Amino acid sequence: MELEVHQFISYFEPEQAAQLCQMAILESYPEQKVVFEEDEVPDFLYLILEGQVEFRKKTAYDKYHLVAIAKQNDFFGEFGVLDGQPRSAQAIAYTGAVLAKIPREKLMEMLDNTKGSVILKLLGYIVRHLRATTAQYINQMVYQEKMALIGEMVNTIIHDFRSPVTGIQLASAMLKETHPDEDTIEWCDIIQAQVKRMLGMAEEALEFANGNAVLKKQPVKLRILLEQFEKLNRIYFKDTHVNFKFDVPEILLNVDENKIMRVLQNLISNAVEAFNGNGGCIEVIAKNKERFLEIEICDNGPGIPEAIRKNLFDPFVTHGKRGGTGLGTAIAKSIIEAHNGEICFQSSCKGTTFCINLPLA
Ligand SMILES: Nc1ncnc2c1ncn2[C@@H]1O[C@H](COP(=O)(O)OP(=O)(O)OP(=O)(O)O)[C@@H](O)[C@H]1O
Ligand SMILES: [Mg+2]
Repeated sequence: MELEVHQFISYFEPEQAAQLCQMAILESYPEQKVVFEEDEVPDFLYLILEGQVEFRKKTAYDKYHLVAIAKQNDFFGEFGVLDGQPRSAQAIAYTGAVLAKIPREKLMEMLDNTKGSVILKLLGYIVRHLRATTAQYINQMVYQEKMALIGEMVNTIIHDFRSPVTGIQLASAMLKETHPDEDTIEWCDIIQAQVKRMLGMAEEALEFANGNAVLKKQPVKLRILLEQFEKLNRIYFKDTHVNFKFDVPEILLNVDENKIMRVLQNLISNAVEAFNGNGGCIEVIAKNKERFLEIEICDNGPGIPEAIRKNLFDPFVTHGKRGGTGLGTAIAKSIIEAHNGEICFQSSCKGTTFCINLPLA
């Protein structure tokens, strides 16, 4: 779009608008070029003429968390321009962008001599943006409250659910013993396997409800943990034709061993399930990144369905599975975050890699 018709310019009287256009510096930003870094001193206001700009905040693991996106006809950097405080986020050209930069000092001078109506329009824009950000935070809070409620509900249900289920399990075991013919044994085995699965699902839900409960942290070697994991799953891997490998450094982690095992079990079972009986390779690779340990869990399966990639870690998001609760990855995330770690993934039709960062002991 032309600079003259940008909404920010249109706030001003024609004479001031012309001055602004004159002082603006047009610049093209290729895809992924940083416009400004977090904490930088603010020197310009930016008007977007073409493309999109993303705002991201750095996390403790040198990764970035997306905060917002601005589009053509939006402007940004106005907070820093108005209060002179360092930039609160990094701005980066998303798809390639054309920006008009207006120098802060000249703009402040102009705003000093401008009519109240211009300031009101500017304020209106800022308030709209603040409202949108607040709405986003409120949604997050409501979501967390909902999850806490679900947690409480699940706790009560599971408490009442365990004893009848254990009853079914015991009765089928008795039946098998008193009628040891082939058919009865087969049917009783099915009952027991399904009951075990129900208990497992209840356990999962309970785990999720207590996701952020106190961790029983202790120093453990990742290698030993993986050796135990492999042993526990040896028959499962054999039956499903999975080649499981790991390559991790001798390193001590201070973690809740059982919970980290649960993370591995959830992510690796997902990969096995995605192979759909055709077998495949799963590899766990870990690298020491000084402040944290980076663990990658890679599979060569068909990839995570596009439709759920955006909200994979949300509870109850499941795809293509009968009886999937959609809690596996949500639980994994809540456990990793309870350890002050991070989890993300990359997926294509050639496979999926989950990347976990955990602080070092
Ligand atoms: N490695 C993977 N490869 C392909 N798809 C995956 C992989 N991991 C997860 N998925 C997809 O993500 C969905 C969500 O996984 P998640 O573990 O959260 O729930 P679920 O496996 O469906 O149910 P649950 O784990 O509770 O039994 C799965 O249903 C599956 O479609
Ligand atoms: Mg799962």
